[in-house]
Amino acid sequence: MKEFHSFRLDTVNHCLWHGEDRVSLTPKAFDVLRYLVEHADRLVTQDEILGALWPETYVNPEVIKKYVLGIRKALGDRHEKPEFIETFPRRGYQFVATVSEGIGTPSDASINGARKMVGRETAMAQLDGYLTHALKGQRQIIFVTGEAGVGKTTLVDEFHQMATRHPNLRVVRGQCVEGFGGKEAYYPVLEALGQWVRDSGGGSVVHTLAKQAPTWLVQFHSLIKAEQREALQKEILGATRERMVREICEALESLTAQDPLVLVLEDLHWVDPSTLDFISALSRRRGPAKLLVLGTYRPADVIISQSPLKALKQDLVLHSLSHEISLERLDESEVSDFLAFKFVDADFPSRFVNLIYRRSGGNPLFMITILQDMVKKGLIAQADGRWTLGVALEDVEPSVPETLDQLIEMQFQQLSAVEQLILRSASVAGERFSVWAISTAAEIDPGSIEDACDGLSERLQFIQAAGIHELANGQISAHYDFRHSLYREVLYRRLSEVIRSRLHLQLAQRLKAFCEPGELELASELALHFEGGHDYKQAIRYLILASENAAGRFAYRDSLEILRHALELALKLSPALRDELEIQVLESIGDAHFALGALVQSAQAYTTAAERARQAGLKTAQLHALTSAMYPMGFIDPDQGIATVEEALKVSMSVNDPTRLAGTQMLAAGCRLVFDAWSQTDANLYTSSCETLLRHSGLDAYQRIVYAHILVLKGNYHEALESCEGSVSRMGHGMSLMAYYGALSAKTSALLLMGQLGKALQITQAGRASPDENLARYWLLSFREAWLRTVAFDFEGARRICQGSGKVGGEYPDSQGETIDQMAAGYIALYGGKYGRAIEHFRKVLNPAVRTKFFRHWWWRLMARLESINTWLMSGDLSRAGTAADSFLESALSTADPHLQTLAWDLKTRVAMAKNDFKGARESIQQALGIVDKFEIVVAAWQGYATAWQLYQRLNEHKTARMNRERAETYIFKIANSFAPDEPLRATFLAAPPVRRVLCEKTVNKATR
Ligand SMILES: Nc1ncnc2c1ncn2[C@@H]1O[C@H](COP(=O)(O)OP(=O)(O)O)[C@@H](O)[C@H]1O
Ligand SMILES: [Mg+2]
Repeated sequence: MKEFHSFRLDTVNHCLWHGEDRVSLTPKAFDVLRYLVEHADRLVTQDEILGALWPETYVNPEVIKKYVLGIRKALGDRHEKPEFIETFPRRGYQFVATVSEGIGTPSDASINGARKMVGRETAMAQLDGYLTHALKGQRQIIFVTGEAGVGKTTLVDEFHQMATRHPNLRVVRGQCVEGFGGKEAYYPVLEALGQWVRDSGGGSVVHTLAKQAPTWLVQFHSLIKAEQREALQKEILGATRERMVREICEALESLTAQDPLVLVLEDLHWVDPSTLDFISALSRRRGPAKLLVLGTYRPADVIISQSPLKALKQDLVLHSLSHEISLERLDESEVSDFLAFKFVDADFPSRFVNLIYRRSGGNPLFMITILQDMVKKGLIAQADGRWTLGVALEDVEPSVPETLDQLIEMQFQQLSAVEQLILRSASVAGERFSVWAISTAAEIDPGSIEDACDGLSERLQFIQAAGIHELANGQISAHYDFRHSLYREVLYRRLSEVIRSRLHLQLAQRLKAFCEPGELELASELALHFEGGHDYKQAIRYLILASENAAGRFAYRDSLEILRHALELALKLSPALRDELEIQVLESIGDAHFALGALVQSAQAYTTAAERARQAGLKTAQLHALTSAMYPMGFIDPDQGIATVEEALKVSMSVNDPTRLAGTQMLAAGCRLVFDAWSQTDANLYTSSCETLLRHSGLDAYQRIVYAHILVLKGNYHEALESCEGSVSRMGHGMSLMAYYGALSAKTSALLLMGQLGKALQITQAGRASPDENLARYWLLSFREAWLRTVAFDFEGARRICQGSGKVGGEYPDSQGETIDQMAAGYIALYGGKYGRAIEHFRKVLNPAVRTKFFRHWWWRLMARLESINTWLMSGDLSRAGTAADSFLESALSTADPHLQTLAWDLKTRVAMAKNDFKGARESIQQALGIVDKFEIVVAAWQGYATAWQLYQRLNEHKTARMNRERAETYIFKIANSFAPDEPLRATFLAAPPVRRVLCEKTVNKATR
């Protein structure tokens, strides 16, 4: 802690204190000041500062000048006779005040002179007590509540001061913002965290976030390097709200295991829903954390806005997970104390205190405003070094308005026309505004605006200087804060509708320059101003961007909220403008629902978008919406999905665009192949349209995924996995989430058939274990795991999963789960020798009347046919098995799936063996093994070699037999060793009778020991 005059430079928390006041400095301005103070003994050149603080970027030296100007303003330094920073023209700067190493307590002078808080002893004692608990590792969640101006921020500032005296304690603060702030997911949390990340200069905070909270680190675009961002982006694909919340809780717990943290979240009555999720989760976790969260809010505003904060706080307090400190107005004796502090050695009439108390009702902000007003009017003045009242007490009362709003209004009337103009624009711009932002609206040059603002700030009226900040376009501009949000609110409310909307529009147009494509940070602020300016078309555009922002923070509910609002605004547009935007909004709604796993709603939104586009004759939009609809429908109603792509195909025939046509053709053929049936015609159509696309534009993320599925059906697993990888690296938001799920689906299927069961299991278990709001993913991964378990002979496990997924699925049809369940039940019966029952189960899968279509359903039906024939064979019904095996082979050969084909030849071999037709058996097994040589079909391979082993044994060709047994064993271990050593499925698989039979005793002992 460095001290100079009555200032203290807190280098741990990166803030400057003046007595008990925090001086508002931007992080860069703080760095400049710190650099000067730390080199106070000498002249520092501009180049030196640039080199030290902007090492990698080119910065105009003028910028330093601006920052120094801002710092001097904040320190109250005078130009003619500088007390703090002296300028040596063209050479540099020197810090000239005496600097001492402080111990971190305010000097005596500030206690008397600048101390400003009266009363609140109980509240401070409570906070101190909570802090003691927090320092011991018991997390504390505290709400400070009370009306506007009652002193919440003042109390928090005082506590902030007190808390920083604990060594290594850090305080970070985030502020909720009215209007657009409530639509920005995690707004105050990101602010607080961003400050911390910046202050720590990429140190331990970034390290912890990178390790434990990548979904958060990635939010700080400007602070991470491009290649790190790319890696993070990949890592967090398909993350969910739950994951994001969990990550930040865990990261905060790690970060506060050693050093304590106070997280201040101000003005939660304007909070966004995601921040509330975060507070709720953080409060309910139990592990140790030296963490104190301090939130402030106005209860009345929470009720008006119907924010869920009220219910959350009640619930937390009820369960003793948080505490509330409710601030009341000051009582008369505290008002008296205040007057004594403020006007040292005053000579006021005895009833003056009572008068101020009565008129202000004990609201500190009202009280201070009254007193400042009186000082300004000369009603309170210093005479002979003593403060006195210049009018009769009776005359004071009538001159003070009834309410604070009226008093503010009155003060406003007394300002000059220019000042009024500036403040009016500022009230539209927000609680913190830049000179740059309001300079067009006010139609005054920036220099004069700054002068006027400085004047107001010096007279303690309405606003205060907030330093020089860099704007998103690299320009720097002076910023100001309203002294209290109430000032802004009053000014904004009194604007006429016409002026208000003009100012919003001007501001929006000014800010728009910042919102470059890809630069989404200002989207919701811009949307707010365009809406305020009645430019609904632009407002909707920016709302769509804002919803993408929310999606980037996995806050899909917030996304939906924003999009619904956009739809409401669309109603105000003329029909010609409306259609196109409405379709876009509906598509985004479809994306958000999909991301939430609300498949029916997702499909509905896309279909509505498509219908709207059809009516408006917007074919490209219609095509896009129909294509999007396919994916959720693939889950809930593939027939409908196929019908939808057929419709898309019709539309694309009428659009003269060969690439688009090829894309739709490819999708249509692909969907029929995956969801309906395998046909050579479709397979050819698929290949030819795919080639056309590759020649023209290449495949997009979505097309690559469908491509991957087709590759899996053809047994080209490695290529399929590559296609998934390529797709994943091309993803952003929205549609890409579908592609991501598609990638998971294709990837797990490929891994499964190539015998990488362990790897596939890792994917499914990671997805199923975490509490996840996304039903679609839960489903997808459940089915895949159930399939996997049937391959590993854990039939009971497969059934458990299938039966559980039905409950989760609820409203949706569950044919995939039922099918795998029946298959597993069939296997149990088959291996238990209950052939009649086994046939019954397989028949249920085969019955076309009761089964709707689902992912690879035709493949499962072929599997059911295969296992029925196996059952007949095992039960000795040779004649039936014989004819059926022939026709099954024919079916399998009409597909392109080497797995099925191998199993078909294998079956035929066993039938031939049973009939003692060894010539036929020899031929068949060679066919089977020929396929195995060409594809990595590990699951089919071990079975084929096991059959070959038995065949050659029967033929007394022992050497060949042994070789085949060893091959089978190798494949079996490939599967078994893909599991982690302690994964129970490994043992289950190795112990399954058909597997065990293949392994020789020695290996069994070794493997199961
Ligand atoms: N306990 C107090 N003693 C002296 N002044 C106070 C006190 N509480 C608030 N004030 C003054 O009232 C003004 C409004 O208080 P603030 O803390 O901003 O209110 P809130 O955050 O509750 O809206 C501040 O400028 C501060 O100077
Ligand atoms: Mg406040």
